[in-house]
Amino acid sequence: MTILVTGAAGFVGSHLCEQLLKTSETNVIGIDLNIEGNQLKMRNVKSLLKHPNFKLYDIDLLTEDLSTFMKNVDVIYHLAGIPGVRSSFGNDFESYILNNGLVTQRLLETCRHHTIAKFIYISTSSVYGEKDGKVTEDLPTVPLSPYGVTKLTSEQLCHIYHLYFKVPTVVLRYFTVYGPRQRPDMAFHRFIKQMLENKPITVYGDGLQSRDFTYVADCVQATAAVKDADYVIGETINIGGKERATVLEVISTLEELLGQKAKIDFVTKATGEPMHTWADISKAQKLLNYRPSVRLREGLMNEIVDLAELYDRKE
Ligand SMILES: NC(=O)c1ccc[n+]([C@@H]2O[C@H](COP(=O)([O-])OP(=O)(O)OC[C@H]3O[C@@H](n4cnc5c(N)ncnc54)[C@H](O)[C@@H]3O)[C@@H](O)[C@H]2O)c1
Repeated sequence: MTILVTGAAGFVGSHLCEQLLKTSETNVIGIDLNIEGNQLKMRNVKSLLKHPNFKLYDIDLLTEDLSTFMKNVDVIYHLAGIPGVRSSFGNDFESYILNNGLVTQRLLETCRHHTIAKFIYISTSSVYGEKDGKVTEDLPTVPLSPYGVTKLTSEQLCHIYHLYFKVPTVVLRYFTVYGPRQRPDMAFHRFIKQMLENKPITVYGDGLQSRDFTYVADCVQATAAVKDADYVIGETINIGGKERATVLEVISTLEELLGQKAKIDFVTKATGEPMHTWADISKAQKLLNYRPSVRLREGLMNEIVDLAELYDRKE
């Protein structure tokens, strides 16, 4: 089986490629942008580049002729895009529209003219907006951020291309993924880095906001299962984690794990962020046999070890 993964040098994409390559006779074509010279992206793909069944292409999905890459491709995982809620307000919005919306449309157009088994689009819990309690996939989508709007646009493009052109799309909605190689703009990465440097932690709002945190190994296991699953085409599936927690609870776990007290700077609540997220994962359990297993404490420890190595090496 040949699998194309976009965003392969990113946080989740690099873990997904590693997971897919655990199955023998799988070839993975990774696509990403501006990899050389980017220390974090190079670090993400370091072990992948040694794998004989992995090929990496440094191309811009916005401009490249994508049909070149489609030969013999069975499954596409589309993770490339611009993530992050806060920076989607203001001048950067154009890059969200282009790299999230237009790139997805270009890929779907290309898929119209090639036979593939599945096109798996990676979306986000940000499409739900503010909700009470666990969210099921059929709840109304009311994104609170421009980021969420562009991800929802891409979801809807998937539905349209499935409806009219039978592109075999599947949408996964990830809930806050964490673990080794987490993006530097994400909260756990910032907190751990600031604590390792003995600097104050910046918390947006009162810290009582809660998230459904998904450890990256659980996340990519569920994602990899989609390629082999029946009855998933045309579906939207939540991928949540083993545990939920508030930001303050996470900080207190980090204090225990690092054996030091955090100094916290509370700043104004971020615009576009819901107070709580909570995934109902029954659909993923049923269709993908998904059982997230990594507890928050264990996952945080793994992220600490990874970041200690990353930042020590730089000094
Ligand atoms: N990390 C999370 O908690 C989370 C939660 C929900 C959804 N998601 C979604 O999962 C996907 C991966 O997220 P991530 O955290 O790994 O992000 P990431 O930024 O680490 O990875 C995305 C990759 O896409 C690449 N990319 C962007 N535009 C491109 C283009 N035009 N051509 C080629 N490559 C391009 C970037 O270079 C980057 O390496 C994203 O689509 C994101 O919206 C992530």
